[in-house]
Amino acid sequence: MREQFPVTRRYNYLNHAAISPPPIFVMEEAQSYLKGVSEVGVEEVNRVEEDDFKSLREGLAALINCKWNEISFVPNTSYGFNLLVYGLDWKEGDNVVTDELEFPTVVFPWLRLGDKVKVKLVKPDLENFEDSILSQVDSRTRVVALSHVSFNTGVRVDVGKVAREARQLGAITAVDVIQSAGAVKVDVKEMGVDFAVAGGYKWLMSPQGSGFVYVREGLLQDPPFYGWRTSRNFESYDATSFQLEEGPRRFEPGTIDVASNLALARAAKFFVENTDQVYGAVEDLSGYANRRAQEEGFEVVTPMRKRAGITVVKVPKNKEAWKHLMSNRIVTSARGAGIRISTHFYNTRGEVDQALKVLSQWMRAQI
Ligand SMILES: Cc1ncc(COP(=O)(O)O)c(C=O)c1O
Repeated sequence: MREQFPVTRRYNYLNHAAISPPPIFVMEEAQSYLKGVSEVGVEEVNRVEEDDFKSLREGLAALINCKWNEISFVPNTSYGFNLLVYGLDWKEGDNVVTDELEFPTVVFPWLRLGDKVKVKLVKPDLENFEDSILSQVDSRTRVVALSHVSFNTGVRVDVGKVAREARQLGAITAVDVIQSAGAVKVDVKEMGVDFAVAGGYKWLMSPQGSGFVYVREGLLQDPPFYGWRTSRNFESYDATSFQLEEGPRRFEPGTIDVASNLALARAAKFFVENTDQVYGAVEDLSGYANRRAQEEGFEVVTPMRKRAGITVVKVPKNKEAWKHLMSNRIVTSARGAGIRISTHFYNTRGEVDQALKVLSQWMRAQI
């Protein structure tokens, strides 16, 4: 499998929580489509769009356990959250509960609602994340917005617990699965969430521009944005007649990034077919990184029992540490309180060891 990742020839690549290098077989899916369009134009487009992307939707539905008609393609995670901002019927005094450690895109979209809606930014306790969030949910909470796995701390949240209790108070749960899908099991039905969104370019190892949203059946029948593809008879190209599309195309007002999403569906197929191996390897490697970092004397931000694929190691002057790692061809990110190591299934324990060794040498040289 390593040969599917040319990046490994140049780098010790431990940065899948930022950008993943797509494996060759995923890249080829996009390439072959683009080659087809280059050679035969619309004929290739018609070929892949014949079923209105039903088979691609089915592939993603299998990945997160929902129905194919609950999957729509979106250009990025941020766009996805905005569907709720503009799609729900907000009332004065409603609130949204989220937290301070979220990626900004989980928080900023709600600010568009202005004074009408209060955005409650919880300061979470990492070990009791769920209770920190739930303590702020009340009968006026419309949405609880959070990441399944935190980009900042690596904490994997028990979203099921949050969604169950939020629902009892009448709130919907909208979850950002960009840091979990492809790394750990994401089952939207088991978690009981109403809405989930992810760009494809992190753990799903797909191109930027790919992405999907899960909208629970019955949640948003009328989409916030209209375009030619939100019309039921969209292929009639008739501007005098509009009937709202009821299927998942209703969230895709215009042309989607076909090449990128073909690649995403190919990646999803791989993850579904290799679930146990992939999720097992991710869990094993992040567990190894977490334990080894502690043995090296680092404080690890990510609680072992709440981890997914991310290990955040506390490091002062983390930008300098990141630069030093880069100069040794070790790719990580400076995030949160330190260095974020994000290992995917094809990484090795040796790569983790090398990164920690270089990092601890750098730390010792600072004293
Ligand atoms: C939790 C989380 N959400 C969203 C994004 C990116 O958002 P978008 O797909 O809109 O670029 C990131 C990227 O780092 C992220 O970590």
